[in-house]
Amino acid sequence: MTMKGLILAGGHGTRLRPLTFTGNKHMIPIANEPILFHGLRNLADAGIREVAIILGPIQEGIQEGVGDGSRFGLQVTYIHQGEPKGLAHAVLCARSFLGEDPFVMYLGDNLLQAGVLPFLAAYEREHPDAVVAATPVANPVQYGIVELDGDRIVSIEEKPAHPKSNLALIGVYLFTASIHPVIARLQPSRRGELEITEAIWNLLQTGARVHPLRLEGWWKDTGLPADLLDANEKVLDSLPEHRMRREGTISPRATVRGRVSIESGSVVEDGATIEGPAMLGKNVRIGAGSHVGPGSTLGDGVQLAGASVRRSILLEGARVEGPVRIADSLVGRRVLISARHPSPEEVTLVIGDAAQIRL
Ligand code: G1P
Repeated sequence: MTMKGLILAGGHGTRLRPLTFTGNKHMIPIANEPILFHGLRNLADAGIREVAIILGPIQEGIQEGVGDGSRFGLQVTYIHQGEPKGLAHAVLCARSFLGEDPFVMYLGDNLLQAGVLPFLAAYEREHPDAVVAATPVANPVQYGIVELDGDRIVSIEEKPAHPKSNLALIGVYLFTASIHPVIARLQPSRRGELEITEAIWNLLQTGARVHPLRLEGWWKDTGLPADLLDANEKVLDSLPEHRMRREGTISPRATVRGRVSIESGSVVEDGATIEGPAMLGKNVRIGAGSHVGPGSTLGDGVQLAGASVRRSILLEGARVEGPVRIADSLVGRRVLISARHPSPEEVTLVIGDAAQIRL
């Protein structure tokens, strides 16, 4: 038996699509690395080698970015889900890849501090048929909700109108082959999907044991822009020292404070200030007097000219010119924001690729 990985980068959680970010939303960078890569690393760090990525209708950039997986120490295969018909449908599509092996199923837009090792540890310790993880959330109607009595699962419901607890199932699960016959018998839910949450409930009804982990550390489902910014800040806060670089050219008259990573070709000019945690990609230009505040990730080629950015993600090639202060913003690739007059307050923007905004 080998533990396999199944990472879903297809149809679930496509809430960012209307914002016209090109490509697949799992390729949006968090701390300058696509969200999906964080999941792949989590699987690799837990010793998993064989991973299948489930692709949906929007898959631009994934195969180009991940390739055969060798850069993560993984062997990656791709499985086309076609029209996404639910998380359990993705497992059905991966049936022959999974064979009779246990597997970790990982929703590609989830980020978790603890990684997937706690799932494997619980599996080895308890030998259950499945491991799920729960954590308290403020808005339980948006998640799969589990009701617990000690380590016993009393109920599980997908996005219930009247939640019985505030414990959300996170988008990482460990299953054994016992899930397959249960999924084979599932019927589409009211929203027309084969729900993994219902499959877990049905699995329990067969007398199987599902071990609920109480998640330690932070967890983020990055379905919405605000979640991406939160996740970015959390990942920047917890990045290991070896991921922080000091390349490029930093003027002796610039100020760089805290944990700041600056990659090659980047320039930080006179009087510019950068306060960490922050991450700058390659060929970034922080012009004279510009300011980068904590919780910011600036992709390759981003340029600030006299502007200030705080707790934001700016994707590749975005430019901000003039005395504007941007905060809590998600700015698409090659966007141009220009301002002639100082803005009295911070500006918050969520803008898709290639937009042009004059303030
Ligand atoms: C999915 C699952 C839900 C789970 C959530 C975690 O929801 O259906 O049970 O709580 O992921 O991220 P989705 O984000 O696809 O709406």
